[in-house]
Order: sequence, then structure tokens, then C-alpha cells
Amino acid sequence: MSSNTANRSNETMSIFSPQLAARFDALVQKYPAKRSALIPMLLYAQDEVGYLSDAVIDEIADRLCITPLEVRNVATYYSMLRFKPAGRFNVQVCTNISCMLRGAYELYERFQHELGIGHKGVTSDGVFSLEEVECIGACCWAPAIQVNYAFHDELNPDDVPGILDQYRTQVQNKENNA
Ligand code: FES
Repeated sequence: MSSNTANRSNETMSIFSPQLAARFDALVQKYPAKRSALIPMLLYAQDEVGYLSDAVIDEIADRLCITPLEVRNVATYYSMLRFKPAGRFNVQVCTNISCMLRGAYELYERFQHELGIGHKGVTSDGVFSLEEVECIGACCWAPAIQVNYAFHDELNPDDVPGILDQYRTQVQNKENNA
């Protein structure tokens, strides 16, 4: 076991939850070269922390025995990885060809209007962020959007307020039960 792994097996030294730290410890053992675990680690870390902060990048670099610059060089290539916090619900509107032909821009404009933000914007209450994205693999049901990991498809602009209300209700219910 390397000193790096030995250090990181001490959960108190990780910025991640004990569960995620343990997942990372197991993940790096699965690859002949540790750095092959980089993309899944970045995605899992983003899911937990919300974005790739300097601390996230530093710890992942340390775990994989590479430099933070090497982590950034890879991470900046992927549009689904972000370096600033997103909203609690990240709304991704596909405007690629199938969706565009079936009204994606009207849909996207309605989201912009309803949320009062543009591309990569975050609402002032932190509940929503918005992104215009390339194909999300739901072309047969265009136009489609993705909110975190949930898909909504065959949409028209009048569906937008209802979709947003659905997520606002989730936030309210969580707050009421807290
Ligand atoms: S073009 Fe929109 S999901 Fe493929």
C-alpha cells in the first residue's frame, strides 16, 4: 500500500463523506493505472460537493498521484463537469438538431424567462441553474431536457412552469420535513 493510500484511508483526512472516500479507495484498486479512475471520481465528487472546488481537485490529484493541473486539464474538456456551484436543480436544455427542429429554442427561452437567468446562470435562491447543452441522448422524444439525473421529454414551452413547480415543491417538502 502506498503512503498516499495509507493516508487517504484515514477518513478524517478526506473532504469527502466516509462513504465516498471508501468508494474512491476501492475504485482506484480496480485499475492498473490509478489515473484511469479520474473521470468517475470527478463525477462522484461533483455529485456530492456540487462542483469541482480547488479542494476537490487537490484531493483527487493526491489520490491518483497526479498533479492538480493534470486533473484540470482533463476536467475542463468535459462540459458536464463544472468549477462553480450549480443550483440544487441543474436544468439542461438540449438545443441540438433533433430538439432544435422540434422547438428547443422556444423551450429554452421559456426557461430563461421563467427563471430570470441565462446560460450557466443560477437563481438567487440557489434552487435552479440553467444550461443550454448538446444532445442528451433523448432525440426520439425531442425536445428534451435533463434536470440533475431526471429526463423530461416531448415538451412544449407551456410545460415549463409545471416542471419548475414540481421541483420547487420538492424543496418546500424537504424544508417542511426538516
Ligand atoms: S438532439 Fe436533443 S436529445 Fe438528442
